[in-house]
Amino acid sequence: MPLPYQDSSLAVAERVEDLLGRMTLPEKVGQMLQLDARQDLAEIVCEKMAGSILHTSPDKLVEAATLVARTRLRIPLITAEDCIHGHAFWPGATVFPTQLGMAATWDPALVEQVARVTAVEAAATGVHWTFSPVLCISRDLRWGRVDETFGEDPYLISELGAAMIRGYQGEGLTDPTAILATAKHFAGYSETHGGRDASEADISRRKLRSWFLPPFQRAAAEGCRVFMLGYQSMDGVPITANKWLLNDVLKDEWGFTGTLVTDWDNVGRMVWEQKVCADYAEAAATAVKAGNDVIMTTPAFFEGAQEAIRRGSLREDEIDAAVRRILRLKFELGLFENPRTPDAARQREVIGAAAHTALNLEVARRSLVLLRNDGVLPLPVPSSSSSASSSSSSSASSSAFSSSKRIAVLGPNADDVSAQLGDWAGNSGQVDWMPDGHPRRLTSTVLDGLRDLLPDGWELDFDPAVEIEELVPDPEGETFPDGQPRPPISVGVPASPERLEQARRLAAAADYAIVVVGDTVNLNGEHKSTATLELQGGQIALLDTVAATGTPMIVVLIDGKPLALPPSALGAAAILQAFNPGMRGGQAIAELLFGAIEPTGRMPISAARHVGQQPIFYNQVRGQHGTRYADLTQDPLFAFGEGLSYTTVVYDGLSIEEPDVAADGVVRATVRLSNTGTRPALETVQVYVSDLVTSVTWAGRELKAYRQVPVPPGESVTVALEVAATDCTLVDAAGARVVEAGDFELLVGPNSRPSALLSAKFRIS
Ligand code: NOJ
Repeated sequence: MPLPYQDSSLAVAERVEDLLGRMTLPEKVGQMLQLDARQDLAEIVCEKMAGSILHTSPDKLVEAATLVARTRLRIPLITAEDCIHGHAFWPGATVFPTQLGMAATWDPALVEQVARVTAVEAAATGVHWTFSPVLCISRDLRWGRVDETFGEDPYLISELGAAMIRGYQGEGLTDPTAILATAKHFAGYSETHGGRDASEADISRRKLRSWFLPPFQRAAAEGCRVFMLGYQSMDGVPITANKWLLNDVLKDEWGFTGTLVTDWDNVGRMVWEQKVCADYAEAAATAVKAGNDVIMTTPAFFEGAQEAIRRGSLREDEIDAAVRRILRLKFELGLFENPRTPDAARQREVIGAAAHTALNLEVARRSLVLLRNDGVLPLPVPSSSSSASSSSSSSASSSAFSSSKRIAVLGPNADDVSAQLGDWAGNSGQVDWMPDGHPRRLTSTVLDGLRDLLPDGWELDFDPAVEIEELVPDPEGETFPDGQPRPPISVGVPASPERLEQARRLAAAADYAIVVVGDTVNLNGEHKSTATLELQGGQIALLDTVAATGTPMIVVLIDGKPLALPPSALGAAAILQAFNPGMRGGQAIAELLFGAIEPTGRMPISAARHVGQQPIFYNQVRGQHGTRYADLTQDPLFAFGEGLSYTTVVYDGLSIEEPDVAADGVVRATVRLSNTGTRPALETVQVYVSDLVTSVTWAGRELKAYRQVPVPPGESVTVALEVAATDCTLVDAAGARVVEAGDFELLVGPNSRPSALLSAKFRIS
């Protein structure tokens, strides 16, 4: 006879209560633990009785499935992984552009498909839960985790985050291809001091509600089943102890009934790093009372929580409440009936499947942002050249046809798989089972892409010419106080005169020089914030050298975040921002350079001219003196929303249907777009709203809607735009999100620069 909790015909709540009633205190506390599977798995599962594991190698995923059978109650494990731009720690899985690259597509439908494919690949390997999407707002480019975000704008982040959650969670938890999504890092983690990772975030509740919480509120409304905390403390309260945010806001106000997971050793950090708890018993009680359920990688929570109960500082029913939420998740996933263990046959079918690679290529194409072009691009590929016309959007230009050209491909990121895949992939440092990363053949670097698509008769020379860095051990020691390895330090390697001279010769002999520069995974990530935004190592010297030859220079940026560029790069004939474009990035870049596709990406984040301009996000609060520093403009180098096409699109005729709008009404407007060139455009029409007089100081303009519209060459299209009056909000002095009746401006255009926007007034009554 099955026990009631094993009986799938019973209601989940009944099964949870039955199981909970059979569990000992150590079993309950163990159920709350999520431990690092790179340690001794048998000990984790059988002795600590952990309810969940993370960072589990392919072999250990198989082992984990068998270990559960040795436990008394056989409660299935939940396995979690950072599948944040694909199931990127699984050898051969599809690695998409990083979140920042995905954000440059501005396309929720595409991002949803990325998450769906990631879920399908992850589910086949026995992973049930991904720690994605990141909904942090990137406002300081020095922060090491900008690449993991969707950029700087709360509305765009909300749209893309919601899409990703839908994609991961599929048809619902009973769908065997669904994985749990995690909205992270709740909330305010990115508001760092000086860009330093996990520093105290100086952020008021009103500021949180204004910009940092909306993407999370949207995620909760979208049914995201898990929220993960950040590392920061705010106003003296570590996020792990922040009852206001975790209970009052998330659970009570927003009605979130899902599960909360701490970040890595957050409970321990309250003892050894933040030093707000004297010992693990105090830290365990603090964390549980604040509403945390799953305790990530604090093994000492096991003893600490039991000691807290002995001391009377924590009650068993408080543990029960957390365990209930964890068990409910396991029952709803159906893990007791089908533990969703690794399925080798299914893996052969879906991991890196051709359709997934095709999607990856499409996302990479759409993520590329053309920032400057004096007309050099697209390169004048002969129209008969079969190799460069493999893509869908349009055929290559033949206007400047010349049968034979020579291109010099230079720069350290032209043929660097790791820079191209970015952080949280393969051997980027988080896991230990892929020291050599993904099979090399799966990634098309820029060099690969250019070689593959090189028109007949063209010639290509390649030389990385300079290096970015060498890695040296951190003088502070090999590990942090908690035993985690300290990443090595990246030290810039100066250019060698001989290599520069060789690069100069190649560039001078070429018709075009394509210089691929940027950064590395050692300059992005946790613990890897940067003090500067400059190109490191010999890269500036390389750009200066190539620029001096007079050969038209095309700069391709492969980097985790927008970097400040030297004058030689800014004077280049073209600049292409590619971020970390994933496995198909090189092919996509080559297609774009050869004109086989159209550039359509738009900046999801502002780029700075100089690191001292931080923060440079577009939706700054009004009311400062002037608009410049004494020594520098405050104008961004490239603004949020910016990006070029291979044609020009002119905006005119913005008109609002009915400028007097009721409080529950909709602002309806039209604008005309005219493609004045000869190539098709996919235009991202951006709609900003400015509240003209506000009871509190507020952002000068905020993105409220956008539409992606195809505009054929030589044609005009009229685009209908809508913004609900209820979206024209601000957060008032009391912290309430309200619409204040009065005059507003609708600002419509191709990017967030005031000079690029048409405006029309409306009034909300
Ligand atoms: C710490 C990171 O902050 C978080 O984003 C990640 O999901 C966990 N480690 C697990 O790797």
